[in-house]
Amino acid sequence: MAKSGKTITKPIVRPLRESECGEVAAILQYYASREVLLWRTQADILAHAESFFVAEESGRLAGCVALQNYRGGLYELRSLAVREGAAGRGIGTALVQGVIAEARRRGARQLFALTTRTGFFRKNGFKPVNREQFPQKVWKDCQLCPRRDCCDEVAVTICFDEKNFSPPGG
Ligand SMILES: CC(C)(COP(=O)(O)OP(=O)(O)OC[C@H]1O[C@@H](n2cnc3c(N)ncnc32)[C@H](O)[C@@H]1OP(=O)(O)O)[C@@H](O)C(=O)NCCC(=O)NCCS
Repeated sequence: MAKSGKTITKPIVRPLRESECGEVAAILQYYASREVLLWRTQADILAHAESFFVAEESGRLAGCVALQNYRGGLYELRSLAVREGAAGRGIGTALVQGVIAEARRRGARQLFALTTRTGFFRKNGFKPVNREQFPQKVWKDCQLCPRRDCCDEVAVTICFDEKNFSPPGG
């Protein structure tokens, strides 16, 4: 049941199809224009199509997320967005849980994200950490970010090789 009280069909999380790159770009651009997410062009999304996953709800594309591979088993969860008007009914959670499962399947040692939604990520099993742990991210993307001098994002992470790691709900 959603916060509104309506019953919602559970979203399906699956790999992006190349024909959907324009729709994903539009979802991301909505938030990028509000400086919530980094810009990603349709061409950039197409070039990295294999790293994207989408949530489909009642046959409609409702959100997206990307799983970027760095070296040494380090992966980043990025470009997480739920279509405007579809928030608060479990689509973001389904995308994050889908990407956690995919990262584990690919043998990730650690998954991280930079976010202002720390509470949401905590609920999904992530812990806040010092962002300087992720210099690859800081050098590659932060230099291009309009908020680089007033950044309020927190680094959050899941370490899969921690002995005491247990997946949320597991
Ligand atoms: C952050 C974002 C992805 C969350 O997506 P979402 O679909 O709203 O997330 P969910 O619905 O799974 O969870 C949101 C809340 O609803 C609750 N919820 C989840 N499933 C629910 C359900 N079936 N019924 C009712 N409530 C539910 C969650 O507990 C969560 O509560 P919280 O706000 O107290 O943390 C979305 O708001 C978004 O696109 N934001 C803009 C871009 C952004 O900030 N991206 C993150 C940068 S890394």
